[in-house]
Amino acid sequence: MLQNALTIADLKARARRRVPKMFFDYADSGAWTEGTYRANEEDFAKILLRQRVLVDMTDRTLASEMIGEPVSMPVAIAPTGLTGMQHADGEILGAQAAEAFGIPFTLSTMSICSIEDIAANTTKPFWFQLYVMRDRAFIESLIGRARAAGCSALVLTLDLQILGQRHKDLRNGLSAPPKFTPKHVWQMATRPFWCLDMARTKRRTFGNIVGHAQNVGDLSSLSSWTAEQFDPRLSWEDVKWIRELWGGKLILKGILDPEDAKMAVGSGADAIIVSNHGGRQLDGARSSIAALPLVKQAVGDEIEVHMDGGIRSGQDVLKAIALGAKGVYIGRPFLYGLGAGGRDGVTRALEILKRELDITMALCGRRDIRTIGPEILDREPRLED
Ligand code: FNR
Repeated sequence: MLQNALTIADLKARARRRVPKMFFDYADSGAWTEGTYRANEEDFAKILLRQRVLVDMTDRTLASEMIGEPVSMPVAIAPTGLTGMQHADGEILGAQAAEAFGIPFTLSTMSICSIEDIAANTTKPFWFQLYVMRDRAFIESLIGRARAAGCSALVLTLDLQILGQRHKDLRNGLSAPPKFTPKHVWQMATRPFWCLDMARTKRRTFGNIVGHAQNVGDLSSLSSWTAEQFDPRLSWEDVKWIRELWGGKLILKGILDPEDAKMAVGSGADAIIVSNHGGRQLDGARSSIAALPLVKQAVGDEIEVHMDGGIRSGQDVLKAIALGAKGVYIGRPFLYGLGAGGRDGVTRALEILKRELDITMALCGRRDIRTIGPEILDREPRLED
């Protein structure tokens, strides 16, 4: 019963039981030692909140805006590749859950369901995440498809010029669609609900790049395709070119360093996402929540700042907002919800975060998320200091 899931960790445990190992591990992994992946979550616990009492806690609101779009809470769904392998038609279900909840959904370039699949199965605009490839004609065609589908923002990912390495994926022989080796057949046979759902859909390989990428399915072909296609020379000039080509709202994803953030201010982008790709790229980099105040200090209010990485509760959302993020994105909490129970599981993940965020804000003595700042944080010396 999804209603018994009280935390994102409960949904994660349920997803682990329902999703074949290679796909669950794909979500629940980071680069190399996974040190940055762990730090993304653990650093939130180092930030303390101030408990306030005897203040009016009625009539609270979590409604806010991200890049000028109204959101029922300042949380968006992050772009994640292969999402349709966590659950059949996963991207469609995620987009529908986000739409019903009143928050943005971002579709990955490397999704299983295509841009057109999402447009045909939702009623409001969604956001499209772009990886820049050397083949600029292909980029132009992706941007054209996103525009034709009515996407209201382009999220340009900057931190994957070169693909990081995750040991679990290599050991598992990750592929989409799954291969029929004895190991993989066993993994799927022990996940019957996943198999039943998957049997009902035809969407089992990369919907946006199919036709452009021939025979890309298993990890080694995907890695070599990425190495061939993704542009290691990506530059600020390219960002300018994409901004002009797209012409709409632009969000730059994957900025961790204050110097890069300052460069982004002059790029004409509408927002930046402080992110280390969920600890999946540079292992040993600072956690996103530790980077956020440094970036915010560097750019002030000159550009809207968002963040992602390690958000697992409403308390985490509030801490990120207090440190200067206008909004946050969730990657794994979304995937765990999806794996745990499809669209209802994603809705459950969002309900959990919203309830935690609301109660936490109230206990900090505040009623309106748009007024939250660093004053809600407890910066007094800690016991161990
Ligand atoms: C990602 N991420 C990602 N980012 C992106 O720009 N394009 C992509 O295709 C993907 N794919 C992807 C797959 C999986 C399985 C994960 C977990 C992550 C990164 C993602 O957008 C986001 O930055 C992180 O997931 C945020 O960290 P949390 O919320 O997962 O801790």
